[in-house]
Amino acid sequence: LARGVTEPDLTGRHVVVSAGGTREPLDPVRFLGNRSSGKQGYALARTAAARGARVTLIAANAGLPDPAGVDVVEAGTAVQLREAVLKAAADADAVVMAAAVADFRPAVYASGKIKKKDGQDPDPVVLVRNPDILAEISAERARPGQVIVGFAAETDDVLANGRTKLARKGCDLLVVNEVGERKTFGSEENEAVVLGADGSETPVPHGPKEALADIVWDLVAARLR
Ligand code: CTP
Ligand code: CA
Repeated sequence: LARGVTEPDLTGRHVVVSAGGTREPLDPVRFLGNRSSGKQGYALARTAAARGARVTLIAANAGLPDPAGVDVVEAGTAVQLREAVLKAAADADAVVMAAAVADFRPAVYASGKIKKKDGQDPDPVVLVRNPDILAEISAERARPGQVIVGFAAETDDVLANGRTKLARKGCDLLVVNEVGERKTFGSEENEAVVLGADGSETPVPHGPKEALADIVWDLVAARLR
């Protein structure tokens, strides 16, 4: 196949991609968030659509334009993202969790704006754990043979931490990025290694997020056959 020509190898498949980062509200005007830009998830959605898939993109606060030909479902918080992913995954051939899901959320939501009080220290913010969506959908596959992909950003011992995380999550593939001062967040490019539950290791050289997305779909397509 010539370079730049896309083979429609995902035709007839339904794939679900989560993208962006969740925001966990403290009150109507404040939240705990993260620096995920959503670009990698949107690149995954675009490339899957280009390869013929029906794509559901679960978008968490990405602020990016809806990709053409993709069903976009907005989900703001981890709990909302879980609901949207579980619903869309019911008839999906593959699920790719590219979203940065907050591990914790404030234990209480103040329905009115939190105000300063003269001479008083602020109340501490108490956090509770969010559900682990990737672990949940991997443990209870909505369909036999459904392929599930996670993403992990690691700063140290990238491969060893990646292997441990892959086993703990129970997914089929884990895309491991090394993150640091200027790496990955908000950038147009990415460098990664894709670890397989079958022991495979696919290095992805530094390049556009579309190139990494295409390698992920190659690995998914091979497991769907
Ligand atoms: N993930 C998820 N639900 C969560 C947290 C993470 O589905 N509550 C998914 C992410 O979408 C990602 C993968 O799990 O695909 C790995 O996320 P990561 O934050 O690296 O994993 P954690 O298990 O939260 O580990 P850590 O303590 O290193 O943050
Ligand atoms: Ca985490």
